[in-house]
Amino acid sequence: MVIVVLIADCFMDDMKFCIENFGCQMNEHDMDKMASLLAGEGMQRVEDAKKADIVIVNTCCIREKAEQKFYSLMGRLRDAKEKKGTIIGVTGCIAQMEKEDILQRLPFIDFSLGPSNIHKIKKAIDQAMRDEPLLDFSENGCNESLLIRPGYGQDSVKAYVTIMKGCNNFCTYCVVPYVRGRESSRDSRDILQEVAALGGRGIKEVTLLGQNVNSYNNARDDISFPELLEKINAIDGIERIRFVTSHPRDLSPELIGCFGRLEKLCEHIHLPFQSGSDRILKLMNRGYSAAEYIAKVEALRDRRSGIAVTADCIVGFPGEDEEDFGKTMDLIERIQFDGIFSFAFSPRKLTAASTMPGKVPPAKAFERLHRLQKLQREITLSRNKAMEGRTAEVLTEGVSKNSNEELTGRTRTNKIVNFRGPLAMMNRIVEVAIVKGYANSLKGEGAKLKEVQAC
Ligand code: SAH
Ligand code: SF4
Ligand code: F3S
Repeated sequence: MVIVVLIADCFMDDMKFCIENFGCQMNEHDMDKMASLLAGEGMQRVEDAKKADIVIVNTCCIREKAEQKFYSLMGRLRDAKEKKGTIIGVTGCIAQMEKEDILQRLPFIDFSLGPSNIHKIKKAIDQAMRDEPLLDFSENGCNESLLIRPGYGQDSVKAYVTIMKGCNNFCTYCVVPYVRGRESSRDSRDILQEVAALGGRGIKEVTLLGQNVNSYNNARDDISFPELLEKINAIDGIERIRFVTSHPRDLSPELIGCFGRLEKLCEHIHLPFQSGSDRILKLMNRGYSAAEYIAKVEALRDRRSGIAVTADCIVGFPGEDEEDFGKTMDLIERIQFDGIFSFAFSPRKLTAASTMPGKVPPAKAFERLHRLQKLQREITLSRNKAMEGRTAEVLTEGVSKNSNEELTGRTRTNKIVNFRGPLAMMNRIVEVAIVKGYANSLKGEGAKLKEVQAC
């Protein structure tokens, strides 16, 4: 046994790992955190699971489809394990949901860690090499998993910072409170230190992450979310601030006010509405009405004209009839969102909605979803077309996926812009004239470097 440990340790440097990721931005950030911890141990990250000695699957269970994708990937990984003895670990929300039971369905895995335990990734691998599977699903508030600061490449200009975790809202359809635990906010001094360090090493855009960032520090004696934004706004080097995700109920007048006065706060908010029917919103336990949602969006638009509003919504929630769905369509017409992520309701284990009466047949739910998506595609296109003839500030972040000759980046309103420009403009803030609006992006021309801070 001891010999195995020694062999494992001395080969650690040569080990290749791959992380397959599913789920939200929080999960993506967790993946980056684990990757940087392992890179810090001298291990090499590879994209192709077939070339890896260790495969970590960071999971999501928000909808059934995410779970299905995970289990079908695990079927393929089991073959890899049988052929070349790959170490396979499961992290994230399915790990937390299933806990030890995961071994019944996937007896071949070597470790499993819930989202609050990702800082133990190296220990889990070490133990797997000694054939001592680590299974850890402990929940301990604002722990080390939140404090890991992932490394960024030399040229990186965008970074994510977790400011809180978990959720106390218990929307009746949602599994997140069961897998990410209760809300817990990170100390503001620690967050501000992290953002200052990012600003000092060339990061221009920071996105603050949490399941419900608007309730940051609601339960702690520390600064509020608007105060945190104000302090970040004063940090040198940082030129753009974003945050995700907001709950409409917790969108306070102070936070709305931030959009009017903090020049680095980008003109975009992702504000899920879920349904336009008050009856369904009540069944969902969302804590606001459609009229209150509309009033908040109007207040945001008053404060910052041109602010882009995107959202999530669910169709086919139990009990939803044509009239309820019609109200959702009306809300979409009324708000004219820049984009919507829309989903058919998927019953989730442990949630109240999974046993509610009035199940909507899947064919009906998908038919509504298609109608909604058609309407939103038209609105998105018309909003993008309305940008034609305007100038936009773009933070470039790569080469366009459609053409090697074009750069790509995002406006402050979070819209993708592709434009011709020299490679020297990569990772810089530029101004471009928008000449065409498409369904998913904008086309720009005449890019000029803009190094003065945007207002
Ligand atoms: N914390 C965020 C996001 C949660 S999950 C928030 O509160 O907005 C992202 C989106 O997935 C949700 O906004 C919701 O639209 C969707 N979603 C969550 N549970 C779902 C379910 N059971 N079925 C279908 N969509 C769901
Ligand atoms: Fe889920 Fe609602 Fe919490 Fe968002 S606010 S994570 S939808 S329970
Ligand atoms: Fe999925 Fe967990 Fe995020 S369920 S959406 S990865 S919080």
